[in-house]
Amino acid sequence: MSLIQITKKSFLIICSFFLLWYLTSTYYYEQELLSYKNEEKLTAVNLTYPSTLLPNTTPTSTPDESYTTSFNSLKELNKKFCGKPKCKFLFAYALREQETKANMHFRSFCQLAEKLDRIMVLTNVGSSRIGTCHNFPFDFYYNTKLIQEVFPKVQFKSENEFSYWLKERDLLKKKLNDDEDDEVIPPLSVFHSYIKLHRNTHNRSYYDDSEINYDFGCISKFEPSMNLEDPKNSKVKYTKYYIDESDLMSERRRIKFSESFSKTFTMNDDILFMNANVIHPLFPQEMPIIPYSEYILNEAKRIKNKLSSSYIAIHWRLEQSNPTLLPECAQGLIMTLKKVMKEEGIKNIYLATDYPLTSSKSQSDTFTSITNYHHEAIRAINETFKINTWVSLGGLKQLRENRLYNEELGGPGIQGILDKLVCVNANYFISGPEGCSRVVSTFTKVIVSERNERLKNRDHSLLNTIDRWQMPL
Ligand SMILES: *[C@@H]1O[C@H](CO)[C@@H](O)[C@H](O)[C@H]1NC(C)=O
Ligand SMILES: *[C@@H]1O[C@H](CO)[C@@H](O)[C@H](O)[C@H]1NC(C)=O
Ligand SMILES: *[C@@H]1O[C@H](CO)[C@@H](O)[C@H](O)[C@H]1NC(C)=O
Repeated sequence: MSLIQITKKSFLIICSFFLLWYLTSTYYYEQELLSYKNEEKLTAVNLTYPSTLLPNTTPTSTPDESYTTSFNSLKELNKKFCGKPKCKFLFAYALREQETKANMHFRSFCQLAEKLDRIMVLTNVGSSRIGTCHNFPFDFYYNTKLIQEVFPKVQFKSENEFSYWLKERDLLKKKLNDDEDDEVIPPLSVFHSYIKLHRNTHNRSYYDDSEINYDFGCISKFEPSMNLEDPKNSKVKYTKYYIDESDLMSERRRIKFSESFSKTFTMNDDILFMNANVIHPLFPQEMPIIPYSEYILNEAKRIKNKLSSSYIAIHWRLEQSNPTLLPECAQGLIMTLKKVMKEEGIKNIYLATDYPLTSSKSQSDTFTSITNYHHEAIRAINETFKINTWVSLGGLKQLRENRLYNEELGGPGIQGILDKLVCVNANYFISGPEGCSRVVSTFTKVIVSERNERLKNRDHSLLNTIDRWQMPL
């Protein structure tokens, strides 16, 4: 099955989910999402959105007939495509880290796109990451209509749309450049930068022209309309930007840094490619979390209903636990659960975990050594209580029935976002103590700050923010 077919299929699926959702659950959506005042918050946004992002204006994935070359000049193509005589893109095509952090990085680059007045390309997603190497369009994870409300000044285009523009431009170039009387379309100008966090740059971020010695990560898939090797086809400049970590550590430092950073990338090239490995926000203001797709939100809602709207959610990330401590951890969790169930009268338990649920592969790609300690710990819990998971509750059923999603669902993937939302909605939320699970986790942090926000807004269904379970004495 080709990539094109995959994206087309998932695009259609997403569209139909959207329609279904829109017709049935407007009310729910407005209830569920909260105001965004500061950083790690899910966003309350209006359901109206600019028509430029409506699904039916998205060129579908590339049957060749869709390329028209009916344009007579580059200006005409650009005006049609981006509303301006010149199209300028920012394509952050590789962002490191898993979804929660990648979500934050992506927001930083949307802020940069706004500063630079560039079209932000909605990078593909998959395996809990944002990067053009992945197979699914951005709207598989995120709500592309609502991201527009978070960044009202930024123009967004999907990878498919970007690819459409490249192809049209290329065809137009061939058509016009053959004829001496016509406008000559210049090679595509591409500015490529590798952005990296550095801890040893003498407290100074720096920028330089560099050799081509870093991974371009799949952008070759846009060939042949964007052949970067051929100077007749494109003019490419490769650069590096090393960011000193201290420049990002406070809002005050980021004010200064982001100005100089943005200034460095103020140029007129058609495409600004960025391959980024930075773990902090780049701008002083941290934007709200990019809203998740309606499909995932609805699945979280459905799971909540299946659990009679009353459940304890456990987030147990076994990666980075101490395996020999796990028998004790399991006993501690059982004790704590019994206590909470008795005191709060909650009967249902939901487990969000990186422990493999659908195959022998872990739900995290950095968690690879699963031992008998891990199996025993989960078994002990499972023998004591009825443990619900996204798998046992039939979550993401439509995806699980389609083998195109096997790999996504078998590893870290869309179900991680679902787990996160189910934990946010839980009446009671428990996570593991030091030694039993990974304690410092942005995943947990996001759940906690969202639950805090709901408590502040007097959501009485929430009985706590987070408890770490107790170890047996
Ligand atoms: C949402 O729409 C309402 C009414 O149209 C408007 O008053 C409000 O400012 C909008 N909120 C946002 C966040 O755009
Ligand atoms: C960088 O700054 C820190 C404190 O701000 C200082 O401790 C360190 O020595 C500095 N390093 C260099 C290489 O200048
Ligand atoms: C718990 O046990 C049931 C029944 O044996 C099994 O189907 C399920 O997969 C187990 N759950 C976990 C999380 O291992």
